[in-house]
Amino acid sequence: MWGWMKLKNEIGKRIAQLRKSFGMNQEELAEKLNVTFQAVSKWETGASYPDIELLSLISECFHVSVDYLLKGNGFKSKAYYNQKYDQEDYYWGFQPSVMCHKVLQHMPTVKHLRLLDIGCGEGKDAVFFARNGYDVTAFDLSETGIEKTKKLAERCGVYVNAFMADVNTFRLNTEFDIIYSNGVLHYIPPQLREEIFANYKNFTAENGINILSAFVKKPFIGPAPDSEKYTYEWLSGELFMLYHDWRIDICEETIFDCMSSGVPHKHGINRVMAKKISKN
Ligand SMILES: C[S@@+](CC[C@H](N)C(=O)[O-])C[C@H]1O[C@@H](n2cnc3c(N)ncnc32)[C@H](O)[C@@H]1O
Repeated sequence: MWGWMKLKNEIGKRIAQLRKSFGMNQEELAEKLNVTFQAVSKWETGASYPDIELLSLISECFHVSVDYLLKGNGFKSKAYYNQKYDQEDYYWGFQPSVMCHKVLQHMPTVKHLRLLDIGCGEGKDAVFFARNGYDVTAFDLSETGIEKTKKLAERCGVYVNAFMADVNTFRLNTEFDIIYSNGVLHYIPPQLREEIFANYKNFTAENGINILSAFVKKPFIGPAPDSEKYTYEWLSGELFMLYHDWRIDICEETIFDCMSSGVPHKHGINRVMAKKISKN
């Protein structure tokens, strides 16, 4: 009995947390699900739980799996990053990543451009883009990261549409001109990559770009001393192959020294910038 009560409470807590990270009130969520706001309130306080068919709708609405709603798992890296980000300071600092300048160079904001930052962390790149005039949407698995992204945007006087989502379950249904991601793609297991990237390519506007980086395996580089479990390095060149039918403007591999955890080690990274060009 106690276990069931606890489960109801936990589901409710996760729904409340997701709803807030999407900036929705109980009435708005109720309207989306075609239920009363009292029903939402009861789930969130653990007084009742949603029906099975509603669980599926809720999971779609927040881009998480039903498994996550029920058990809160499948998110090993969430706790890891929530903890890293749970401080006043910004763990990744404020300096935009090298690829940000490539975006400015290749797709300057001479017109309205919609940019998606996948795995935005604490928002240093997303906010940089917003400050440079892009219309920015950003998501990350860490709700602490999302809160800090919103805070940083507010402090800089710009708006970023930031929300919590899992790259492995979230799928695009609106177009972007620029799809950007830095240091995140190793959370996508190999079996999901083709499908996820087909979705990203499909929802990139004509003449839009995808600009991405991925950690790659190299036989001469051992595992990092602080490497996380549940990450999946890419094969060298694998990311480029996904864009074989687009114009590839940047295609590079870098091996760099890293001092995270205080122990010197190396990483291999592939960076790609590819443009969707229409046939005509
Ligand atoms: C190395 S950090 C990079 C953050 C940011 N892109 C930057 O350059 O500052 C990796 C980020 O991936 C996020 N992440 C991990 N697993 C994820 C997933 N399944 N879906 C979305 N984001 C995820 C983490 O929360 C973390 O913020």
